[in-house]
Amino acid sequence: MPNPKSAYSDFWLDLAADVSHREAIGLKRQLALSEPESPRTIRRNGLSLVHFGSNDYLSLAWHPEVRQALISTSQGPRVGSSASPLIAGGAKQYQQLTETLARWEQTDRAMVFSSGYAANIGTIAALASKEDAIVSDSLNHACLIDGCRLSRAAVHIYPHADMAALKTTLSELRHMYRRTFVVTDTVFSMDGDIAPVFEIQELCQQYDAMAVADEAHASGVLGEQGRGVACGPGIETTRWIRTGTLSKAIGCSGGFVAGPTVLIEWLTQYARSWIYSTAPPSAVLAAASRAVELASEMDLQRQQLGTRSLSLRESLRSLGFSTRFDATPIVPIYFQSPEEVLAISKRLIEAGFFVPAIRPPTVPRGTAMLRVSLTASHTDEDTQGLLEALKKL
Ligand SMILES: Cc1ncc(COP(=O)(O)O)c(C=O)c1O
Repeated sequence: MPNPKSAYSDFWLDLAADVSHREAIGLKRQLALSEPESPRTIRRNGLSLVHFGSNDYLSLAWHPEVRQALISTSQGPRVGSSASPLIAGGAKQYQQLTETLARWEQTDRAMVFSSGYAANIGTIAALASKEDAIVSDSLNHACLIDGCRLSRAAVHIYPHADMAALKTTLSELRHMYRRTFVVTDTVFSMDGDIAPVFEIQELCQQYDAMAVADEAHASGVLGEQGRGVACGPGIETTRWIRTGTLSKAIGCSGGFVAGPTVLIEWLTQYARSWIYSTAPPSAVLAAASRAVELASEMDLQRQQLGTRSLSLRESLRSLGFSTRFDATPIVPIYFQSPEEVLAISKRLIEAGFFVPAIRPPTVPRGTAMLRVSLTASHTDEDTQGLLEALKKL
């Protein structure tokens, strides 16, 4: 029989020992406060730093019209929405935003969650159940992984973007489950590479599977009018369930699913993270509506981001750094160990640049990287300055 008294005292000692161990191996996570300063700079510990850690890819979080939409709606009587959407939390601004999203995504309807995380766990856990299988890319974001776990479906992981492995898994699973879902980020959140959506679609067609795409880092950034990756010419729209976020390129907060009426009606019955969570505040919803409208017209900024990203990657390569070539704003620079990447990130701060150090378990064990996020507000001087600082390391 375990002794409850010693279990109690061990509990706190165990927690402290675990945190100390994480610190000793360079993996301790720590909240560092920062203050927004401008669309391209941030203040940390009293220092003004060029900000390469933002997902506000189009700088819409700073757009005067988005701010105005927030301010004028917040002059209404209520701050929080006071209830879940089905009870009393669904205000006019909720409906307007879902209509704006559906227009943008060229779908019948849309559904708005309090975060992208909630959109993914709610959607995946609702879609799949014990009789089903989910085949998931090994580098999918934590909220897709958690959605898969919550669904209680049989989860099979395929090596990152490995279409031969996906094919083998799908062929083995065929006829074993009621339904099979292939789940993928469309732009991978750490490496910034783009999922092979056409190959995934072809395999889903061949093996009678549905595909689920998280467009969190693609919404607003890639595709026609910034709609994302798993849409447009060549995409069989009824094969894909697509989620997105309002917290990154849209510059606000929240997440969404866009799709046919039947999907949204069905999720209204079963998406627990939507049903049992307070609806987002109306002011945020109004700001997001305006931001989505603006994002759909920002082709020039999208093109400039792509060009800046490829040119930064080329310069990094020529300096001997290891990176990848994808026209997305997430530029990884790979290093050997968490300790090394932490030390480099610290030296970059001393040189005036904030570039987050990414370590396991956010990335697989044995890997570590600097994740450079580019936004529409960065200048040539910003990226040139970063390259100079890296050169001096
Ligand atoms: C791929 C991916 N999906 C979903 C999310 C969650 O979105 P949100 O921050 O809106 O909860 C993130 C956020 O980091 C992400 O990177």
